[in-house]
Amino acid sequence: MNTIKVLSSLKGQVRGMSSAVGNVKRVGVIGSGQMGLGIAYVAANVTRLPVVLMDVSQAQTDKGMVFMDKLLQKDVAKNKITAEHAKLTRELVSTTNSMSGLSDVDFVIEAASENLNIKSAIFRDLDAICKPSSILATNTSSISITKIAAVTKRAEQVIGMHFMNPVPVMKLVEIIPGLATSADVLQETRDLAAAMGKTTTVVQDIPGFVANRLLMPYINEAVMLLECGAASAEDIDTTMKLGTNMPMGPLTLADFIGLDTCLAIMKVLHENTGDSKYRPSVLLQKYVDAGWMGKKSGKGIYTYK
Ligand SMILES: NC(=O)c1ccc[n+]([C@@H]2O[C@H](COP(=O)([O-])OP(=O)(O)OC[C@H]3O[C@@H](n4cnc5c(N)ncnc54)[C@H](O)[C@@H]3O)[C@@H](O)[C@H]2O)c1
Repeated sequence: MNTIKVLSSLKGQVRGMSSAVGNVKRVGVIGSGQMGLGIAYVAANVTRLPVVLMDVSQAQTDKGMVFMDKLLQKDVAKNKITAEHAKLTRELVSTTNSMSGLSDVDFVIEAASENLNIKSAIFRDLDAICKPSSILATNTSSISITKIAAVTKRAEQVIGMHFMNPVPVMKLVEIIPGLATSADVLQETRDLAAAMGKTTTVVQDIPGFVANRLLMPYINEAVMLLECGAASAEDIDTTMKLGTNMPMGPLTLADFIGLDTCLAIMKVLHENTGDSKYRPSVLLQKYVDAGWMGKKSGKGIYTYK
C-alpha cells in the first residue's frame, strides 16, 4: 500500500484510533536521531500505530520530539494533514529513556548509532525485555544482521529494515533477512513497511546490502577527490549534480547522511570484505575525529547555520 492509499484509507476513520498491522499493535523505536525520529513519525502519522520512542537521555528524546513537532507543523502548513490529525499523531508517540519502556511493544525498530557494540548491547537487552513474540528489526546501514541476531536467543525474529533518509519522503525500505530469519517474520516486516507507505526490496545479508554497497564507495571516492585537491567541494558536487542529474552532489549527500555514519559504513565494507577498494578516505576520518559530523553537527564538508 502506498502513502496516499494509507492516508486516504484513514479518511472516515476516527483520527487517532490505533489500528493493527497483522500482529503489530504497538511499535518501539530506538534512537531519536534523524532516522529513528523519521521512522517514529511515519509509524504514527501514516500507519496510526502507537509508538514508544527510546533514547539514552531525556535531552535526546526531547530534541527528537521538538523535531517531530516541526515536521507536523510543516505538514499541516502544506495541507498534507489537518491540525487534528497532527495532534493525534503527537498523542500516539510516547518517549522513554529506559529499555524497560519497550516491554510491551510487538515490533522494535532499532535506529541507534552505526556501531556493532552499541547495537549488540541493545539487542541483548531487547531479547531479555521484550515479549517472546516481538520482532526485533534493525535499521543498520551496513552491519551484518546475522551477527546482531546471534546475540539474542530469537535469531529467527531478528531482521534488517533499512529505511532511507529522510524517512517521511523516501519510498524505499531494504529488507534484509539474517541467516536464521523466518519466512513469517520476513512477511510481517514487509507488511509493516507497506503499511508505512513504503516499497520494499529484499536483499541478502552482505556488507552494505545493496544501497550502501553502491552509494558509499561513490561518496568515499568524492571525499578522496577533495582530499587530493582534484577540485573544490562545490565543483565536485556541481559536476555530479548537473553532469549526471543527481538530485544532490556526493559531498552534500555525505553531510546530510552524517560523516560518522558514512565512515562507519566504509569501515564495515572494508573490514568485512578485506578488499582495499573500500578503504575509508583519510580526510573522512579526520572530519569525524574533529567532531565535524555534517549537517547534524552544524559542520561537515560544508558549514551550516
Ligand atoms: N543517516 C542516514 O542517512 C541513514 C540512513 C539509513 C540508515 N541509517 C542508520 O540508522 C541508524 C541511526 O542513524 P542516524 O543518522 O539517525 O544517527 P543519529 O546520530 O542522528 O542518531 C543516533 C541516535 O542514537 C542514539 N543512541 C546511541 N546509542 C544508543 C543506545 N544505546 N540506546 C538508545 N539510543 C542510542 C543517539 O543518542 C542518537 O539520538 C544507524 O544505524 C545508521 O547507519 C542512517
